[in-house]
Amino acid sequence: MTQSDHQRLVPIQSLVRGELESLEARLQEILLSDIPLIENICSYLNDRPGKRIRPTILFLTARSAGKPEADTVTAGLAVELVHTATLVHDDIIDDHIMRRGKPTVYARWGSDAATLIGDYLYTMAFSCLAEARMFDVMEILARVTHDMSVGELMQLQLRRTIDLSEDHYMDMIYKKTAALFSASCECGAILGGERNGERSKYSRFGKNMGLAFQIVDDLFDYVAADRDIGKPTASDFSDGRVTLPFITAFRNAPEPVRKRVSDLFTVSFDKGKHWSEVIDFVQSYGGVEYSLRKAKHFVERAKGHLVDVSSSPERDALIVAGDYVVERVGNFCR
Ligand code: IPE
Ligand code: IPE
Ligand code: MG
Ligand code: MG
Repeated sequence: MTQSDHQRLVPIQSLVRGELESLEARLQEILLSDIPLIENICSYLNDRPGKRIRPTILFLTARSAGKPEADTVTAGLAVELVHTATLVHDDIIDDHIMRRGKPTVYARWGSDAATLIGDYLYTMAFSCLAEARMFDVMEILARVTHDMSVGELMQLQLRRTIDLSEDHYMDMIYKKTAALFSASCECGAILGGERNGERSKYSRFGKNMGLAFQIVDDLFDYVAADRDIGKPTASDFSDGRVTLPFITAFRNAPEPVRKRVSDLFTVSFDKGKHWSEVIDFVQSYGGVEYSLRKAKHFVERAKGHLVDVSSSPERDALIVAGDYVVERVGNFCR
């Protein structure tokens, strides 16, 4: 994550600084283990935290929706553990060796350890909720964790499908990414003791923010640099993962161009030789522009769900968090 990306999060996260600090402390505490392999991997993960976006929107929603008396930190902890587990597993599937600017668990310890640590983190998330007897949050997160596995399985099944439709893509990114954003807000609303039946507004806000977030992430794969985002770029196309920038360009391009790109996609792609040609293709046939437009559209939709919830600084910070998703494109575009 670049400094300016981090800077953009500061005003959003400052309202829930206390919760975020407790979250860090709890993460350090619960990931301690007598088993050296677990201890080493978990402290390695904790040493370079991610952006903590999902707990941030959970905490902000809880405060915006009411007066949180319940334990929001445990819910935020569970959400972040589920997210981290999916990343650890995702890097095995994607065969990625870098995440958050350093080697992945998979690269350092291998796929066996990474698979088991992913499972360990998932089970830790649910144990924390069970211990705190937070059954409504648990029910939502169980559903969402299931959705996320379905999303990753869909992505695996659809790998190398060059003519993937935008609808299929949207369905897949809802499951693998937006569902957890939505659930974070929904859990926040419940714990805040939502007034005026506003739960579905917050959950729709999260869903649309999450869709935009994944579209932007998929755009970064074409337009950002590894060192800036701390993970590999230029990999979705070469690994056969078709995302919105590519779907759009492939839909718009004339037949001879489609044929050329299909040949690259299916038989003869050499990253060193052909990557700039693929980027040109995605740029020239509107893939970048359309993806950005779609991301903005989902952010506007997200914010639209909050216009008539009770006004508060936390509600406004959620709106800024929505804008952050598309504004960060400016930090990374080459
Ligand atoms: C990465 O999520 C996975 C996607 C859904 C694109 P984040 O960008 O929130 O990852 P961290 O936790 O900040 O590293
Ligand atoms: C998001 O998809 C992964 C999950 C939701 C598990 P990506 O594969 O695009 O995420 P990154 O780019 O590896 O972070
Ligand atoms: Mg990945
Ligand atoms: Mg990605």
